[in-house]
Amino acid sequence: MSSARIFSRIIGTGSYLPGEPVTNHDLVARGINTSDEWIVERTGIHARHLAPEHVSCSDLALEASRRALVAAGKEPGDIDLVIVATSTPDFIFPSAAALLQDKLGIRNGAAAFDVQAVCSGFVYALAIAEKFIRSGSHRCALVVGAEVFSRILDWDDRGTCVLFGDGAGAAVLAASDEPGILATAIHADGSHSGILSVPGQICGGKVIGRPFLQMEGQAVFKFAVRVLKEVAEEVLAQAGLSVVDIDWLIPHQANVRIINATAKKLALPAEKVIVTVGHHGNTSAASIPLALDEAVRAGRIERGDTLLLEGVGGGFTWGATLLKF
Ligand code: UT7
Repeated sequence: MSSARIFSRIIGTGSYLPGEPVTNHDLVARGINTSDEWIVERTGIHARHLAPEHVSCSDLALEASRRALVAAGKEPGDIDLVIVATSTPDFIFPSAAALLQDKLGIRNGAAAFDVQAVCSGFVYALAIAEKFIRSGSHRCALVVGAEVFSRILDWDDRGTCVLFGDGAGAAVLAASDEPGILATAIHADGSHSGILSVPGQICGGKVIGRPFLQMEGQAVFKFAVRVLKEVAEEVLAQAGLSVVDIDWLIPHQANVRIINATAKKLALPAEKVIVTVGHHGNTSAASIPLALDEAVRAGRIERGDTLLLEGVGGGFTWGATLLKF
């Protein structure tokens, strides 16, 4: 007996940024020893959004997911797999995915779990969901990147606090007769864990270590550009495509200099690169689906376009997804 091959396809996207933008000038006004000029020149970031204290990761995920479900023409009850990529979940447990499942009113026993791969989280989650769907075990996945990185920033460390923001992005991935996702690759090298980390934990009710993000910026920069080029070439080779076949590169939105350097190394023209970091900063696992959704809603990305999504982050982790939208 033979069965038709199952593919997976993104059928809807959504995103959400909390509150009003906080500009670089606002940060200076709040007493941070920085300048708009320094931040814009080194990162391309003009503003970020910071979630109010009562708003959690799963709240941001909820807003982005509702928009993605509407765009996909799906009801919460159609979802049988919920994956949230986050490093800033509401609690140690239950997972943000389980909380999101409840907030959406999904009552069908859909599997729900978080993926912790920092800024590569969304491409990790997409790779996992794609395999679940291709196996035939699940039909319709909600894949979300959601973060409240403002909670793990040391606002006295100007080298990191100006770079990050809060937000969420979501995609509904459904079984399809046609591709869809063409290739995925995910990687990690834990020997570089020290250059980007939040080295704290809870033990006996106390915080042990330092629960704030710390980073060796230049080491991260070099590592990121190298692996983003390599993993892009890896998924292109898997699919038998080349750089000229890419309609849009949607990279992790950390920094325009990393994005530009990666595009240059790939010989990809700047006009094929989606860049949204300027108005939301680095939102870690949320950044790729945020950028994707904004470009879809702006009418830049259209059905049938070939997209390369790729991310890199703490761990170190990195990965890419090549897909027909
Ligand atoms: O998801 C991955 C996330 N990580 C990243 O995207 C980061 C990758 N790294 C970078 O983008 C860059 O390394 C940074 C933007 C983080 C920093 O740029 P840099 O050119 O590597 O600067 P630096 O850390 O070498 O610092 C240069 C100077 C220092 O002053 P001195 O020692 O030369 O007097 C810093 O103290 O810039 C100073 N500086 C600042 N000045 C104003 C550092 N942060 C700030 C700031 N405002 N916010």
